[in-house]
Amino acid sequence: MKIDKQWVINHIDQIACFGKGQRGITRLTFTEADIKAQEYITSLMDQAGLVVSRDQMGNIIGRLEGQDKALPAVITGSHLDTVPEGGKFDGVLGVVGGLAAIKRIQGMGPLNHTVELIVFVGEESSRFGFATMGSKAMAGLADTHAWKKAKDQNGISFAQVMSQQNLDIQQIGEATRSKEQIKAFVELHIEQGQILEKSGNKIGIVTAIAAPTRFKITVEGIAAHSGSTPMEERHDALVSAAMIILAIQEIALDQSSRGTVATVGVLKVHPGSINVVPGLVEMLVDLRGVNQESMIECLQDIKDAISTIAQQQDTVVAIAMISAEKPVEMNLKISELIEKSCTDIGASYQMLHSRAGHDAMNMSRLAPTGMIFVPSKNGMSHHPDEYTEYDDIMIGIDVLAETLYQLAK
Ligand code: GLV
Ligand code: MN
Ligand code: MN
Repeated sequence: MKIDKQWVINHIDQIACFGKGQRGITRLTFTEADIKAQEYITSLMDQAGLVVSRDQMGNIIGRLEGQDKALPAVITGSHLDTVPEGGKFDGVLGVVGGLAAIKRIQGMGPLNHTVELIVFVGEESSRFGFATMGSKAMAGLADTHAWKKAKDQNGISFAQVMSQQNLDIQQIGEATRSKEQIKAFVELHIEQGQILEKSGNKIGIVTAIAAPTRFKITVEGIAAHSGSTPMEERHDALVSAAMIILAIQEIALDQSSRGTVATVGVLKVHPGSINVVPGLVEMLVDLRGVNQESMIECLQDIKDAISTIAQQQDTVVAIAMISAEKPVEMNLKISELIEKSCTDIGASYQMLHSRAGHDAMNMSRLAPTGMIFVPSKNGMSHHPDEYTEYDDIMIGIDVLAETLYQLAK
């Protein structure tokens, strides 16, 4: 069946309505907007004739049953949750585009393998601080101990939110799937960088995914009266924090040619009053790269810089690791299959690294995994202006459909 471009545009636009605010889309994990988007896609999956279920983590799984039920499934999918004030394509493309691709191959004759579309929950770390939670649970990588303690910015716990969805955090382990059940996983996603736009190629075949290491830095100074405390006598936690942020930037700039980046994206200042010298600052740091050695060096340099600053400023600084993931390589055979699909379709392509994280990182633990990227306008993502030309999206869907068909036929 030819996929109607209008079908794809309509459904991406519809999903964008869930969580639309003044600036971009805010559809955090398991919020009402996220659940509404899940319900919307579930009904589309139903209409497409997929058998839909939800696992113990809340991942939605739609199955197009193959002729031989004993064969492992070929899976595609992505996520529907967004960052605060995000765009409408990150994740959604792999869900709507994944369904479009499955609808396409439904019409290409009977398939031996079952094909699944999975909507992974909690891909973005924005609400609970943990990334790709749904695919981690599926790959048996859930850190239930840490997740039990996770709370959002309003103090609502992850466990609470799960139980509101009739899910039990104790049972997350049951969402784990075995390697024998899965033949391959292929995720379609926007590039979120400018490599394809600059080269003019329509498809990026991902060779490796950069992994995030995340940590919390707590700087303890002494809160004091902002009027009566002389400048020389202060232990201002925010001043130390500012120096640490600049040091992190400098260190990451030094490693930038090796593809490593570091970001301080969250800063909490206590007590946060205009007339009080800040006594405590907490910040969250996201360090990423595809070169493990460079990331280790970067982390060590940051630790060294922190000790120097703490000493100079007479503040107490502590680092607590949140997560440390390793860069993940995609499967060569799946990448070659994607390459062949590009050649057969006549789509220009190139190999590239993903600098963003994806559910494919965890699925690669379960099955041979590959990723297909389409160009992002101005490389923009995690931003309301995130955009991909629909003609490019349709090429991505064509390549995904052909790849899934070759795997499932
Ligand atoms: C996912 O969007 C990430 O933060 O890489
Ligand atoms: Mn994202
Ligand atoms: Mn994404």
